[in-house]
Amino acid sequence: MSGIIKKISMLRTGSKLERSKKSLRARSSIVLRVYRANKAIGDSAHYDTFDVPIQRWTTVLDALLYAKSYKDTSIGIRYSCRMASCGSCGMKINGIPRLACYTNVSELESGVISCEPLTNFPLIRDLVTDFHQFFSHHKSVRPYIINQNADLRDRKELSEFIQSPREVDEYLQSSYCIKCGLCYSACPTVATDTKFPGPQALAQAYRYSADTRDTGSREDMKTIDDKHGIWRCHFAGSCSSVCPKGVDPALGIQLLRGHMMSFSKHNKKIAELKHHSHGNQTT
Ligand code: SF4
Ligand code: FES
Repeated sequence: MSGIIKKISMLRTGSKLERSKKSLRARSSIVLRVYRANKAIGDSAHYDTFDVPIQRWTTVLDALLYAKSYKDTSIGIRYSCRMASCGSCGMKINGIPRLACYTNVSELESGVISCEPLTNFPLIRDLVTDFHQFFSHHKSVRPYIINQNADLRDRKELSEFIQSPREVDEYLQSSYCIKCGLCYSACPTVATDTKFPGPQALAQAYRYSADTRDTGSREDMKTIDDKHGIWRCHFAGSCSSVCPKGVDPALGIQLLRGHMMSFSKHNKKIAELKHHSHGNQTT
């Protein structure tokens, strides 16, 4: 069933692209609406518009860089790789969080393209936002493999930690995250609670919890199992629909919840056993 749904959505995307190619054939330029604001110089929020010539292969980042090079050099943009790898060019494009370098102008089926900074992030200026809080949530879940036996300095015989393909499949999808923050920007829970770690951090907590090389426990971490933690997610799913790398943070959160349930059941069982054995000793 899911295969059929996939094919239908691919057909839809195909026809959408065809339509957009047709509509662009007659169009050789677009109007770029760029959000501008720079508190440091007392520049209040407004939009500037630029006419930008386009080709079939023009991305939104290309269009912005054209405007920056030939119309207004002061436009603030952050980018680096230009190939959807570094995660730095995230912004809202026609209202949806996307990577500017990964969004072709032809996909948008519009002669006017609006570029705005990501919501749920403090603004630095124009299209550039502050990722400090996002990265501190990311760090708070200890996004690395924790394994005491992984210190190989005195244990030369241990040269690798073998995993089966099935074990790799458990976390592989979540490991593709490039920390672009699009899911964080799309999350309605982050919008109302900045202490909520957000879909990216929780998906990474799942990624490492599901890795058989990792022996560190994250299920009892305050940052996750807290009133501002994983239980605040109400499965809106917008994080997964905007992710440019197919990570599916919403699924990661559900799976991590499953881990946590079995973890607390397991702990309860140990506590019960301890209680019984203690009772047996004293009687
Ligand atoms: S999960 Fe996806 S959208 Fe979220 S930060 Fe990672 S790559 Fe970006
Ligand atoms: S410039 Fe690196 S992801 Fe867009």
